[in-house]
Amino acid sequence: MIVYKKASILENTPVGENIFHLSLEFSGWALPGQFYLLKLPFQEPLLARPFSVFELGERSIEFLYQVKGVGTNLLSTMVKREILTLTGPLGNGWPLPEPEKKLALIGGGIGLASLNMLTREINSKNNSKVDLYLGFSKKPFMLESFSKITHRIVVSSEEKNEPFLQGKITEFINPADYDAIYACGPRPMFKALRSMIKNEGNKYNKPIDLLVSLEEKMACGLGSCWGCVVKVKGEYKRVCHDGPVFNAWEVDWDEYS
Ligand SMILES: Cc1cc2nc3c(=O)[nH]c(=O)nc-3n(C[C@H](O)[C@H](O)[C@H](O)COP(=O)(O)OP(=O)(O)OC[C@H]3O[C@@H](n4cnc5c(N)ncnc54)[C@H](O)[C@@H]3O)c2cc1C
Ligand code: FES
Repeated sequence: MIVYKKASILENTPVGENIFHLSLEFSGWALPGQFYLLKLPFQEPLLARPFSVFELGERSIEFLYQVKGVGTNLLSTMVKREILTLTGPLGNGWPLPEPEKKLALIGGGIGLASLNMLTREINSKNNSKVDLYLGFSKKPFMLESFSKITHRIVVSSEEKNEPFLQGKITEFINPADYDAIYACGPRPMFKALRSMIKNEGNKYNKPIDLLVSLEEKMACGLGSCWGCVVKVKGEYKRVCHDGPVFNAWEVDWDEYS
């Protein structure tokens, strides 16, 4: 069930360059990879903005956001006890991998927000083996949160940031080691992964699944306006309603990129 509810800010603090951790008093639910629309209590921007659920507590919900434009700039100025309106949970979220499958989760920059609940869920309930790869352009952030839920993390940064690897995260993954790869991040990262995996079998010589969480500008966020479409297997699909997670081998990347 989708709810439309007001929530009071518990914390809204910077955790990296232009990156904020937002915690709200809220009793809700979400599957890993689902998102909520956050509407600010101002006339502008009129439209709510979509954000992946980073973490859920019994009486709280957490998001990580990067300051980009008018909405996230205003959001970053909000303080404890100010009120936002949330709509969600929305979207399909990540499917849990089949037990015993070897899985790589890849987060590029703020894309890691979508992978926190999934990593925990797989490590606590599922028999799959999961390695987490987190790539940053600048200084890594929120690593302490991930290191509480998994020991299998590879971290890289494009700028030199000891003790982390230097370079793009895709340079440090060998797709052939995995049955499936789930990725959330910028489009060039998806492109690099696609070309690395294409035509390459895993060690059993089977194709490697590649699932990606796509971001599109959204208006309604609820599947009604068709403002967030992407072409998948020749048909338009709504990122908010049919995604945001899609099989990368079915997306028409020529239209999307
Ligand atoms: C399903 C989903 C989950 C998301 N989860 C997160 C998250 O967890 N953390 C986070 O920081 N961001 C997330 N985003 C992106 C976030 O919604 C946008 O960055 C935000 O809406 C920008 O709002 P703004 O008013 O600050 O920027 P605007 O003034 O609207 O735009 C500023 C810039 O951001 C670009 N932009 C705006 N919206 C999007 C979008 N949806 N996708 C790509 N580029 C966009 C614009 O083209 C422009 O260049 C998610 C997007 C989707 C669709
Ligand atoms: S934003 Fe309206 S259909 Fe997706």
